[in-house]
Amino acid sequence: MTRSQGLVIAIDGTAGTGKSTVGRAAAEHLGYGFLSTGGLYRALAYKVFATKVDPSDAQAVLHTAKNMQFRFERQPDATLKMFVDGEYLGSKLHLDEVAQTASKVSTNAAARAVLTEKMRELGRDGGIIMEGRDIGTVVFPDAEVKIYLDASAEERANRRVKQLVAKGNQADYEQILASIKERDLRDSTRAASPLKPAEDAIKIDTSALTLPQVIEAVLKEINKYAS
Ligand code: DC
Repeated sequence: MTRSQGLVIAIDGTAGTGKSTVGRAAAEHLGYGFLSTGGLYRALAYKVFATKVDPSDAQAVLHTAKNMQFRFERQPDATLKMFVDGEYLGSKLHLDEVAQTASKVSTNAAARAVLTEKMRELGRDGGIIMEGRDIGTVVFPDAEVKIYLDASAEERANRRVKQLVAKGNQADYEQILASIKERDLRDSTRAASPLKPAEDAIKIDTSALTLPQVIEAVLKEINKYAS
């Protein structure tokens, strides 16, 4: 497929595999835009949380999703900064309650269809790397390059602990590991678009790799397609 702005590159995988860092760096290298699609699910979760909607009330969650107005602004570092109803939600999206609610609302198939449509609109012309769980399987099954990143839950918990400690926060390894396992289980066993690699995805286990090594491996795969 030829798209006017370049390729669509899908990076999927579990939380904490470095998808965002790797995707952003690769997009910057290519002069592409970069979207972390979990942000849309987190924004839905935030709205659900803020308006006291029950995350298991399918109709109310769908209604919330349909009423959200998204706008994206490309930043110099390749990221597509997201505004929801005119507001940049920033760090509010990274609260643990919001992450857990995001995992719950993302089991809602009808709400997923609404957000999937937004992602398709944004990526239709290509020139974009999208990171998520179902980009290569559902959002863009016709993506030119599909990467699936994985790492053990223990290694991902270690990475999260390091990140939190580096920011001067407290971190409880066992609690973080349990939270990662809980989300993994919910994300991979849900009926609607469960997390799984696309058949034609290139799988990379990042457990023993540094971020620069993962970025290099991903760029190598993209270059294979381009050449
Ligand atoms: O990648 P993240 O942690 O920001 O994602 C937040 C939640 O959204 C996570 O529980 C999985 C879900 N998600 C999804 O179901 N499909 C996507 N394409 C992206 C995220």
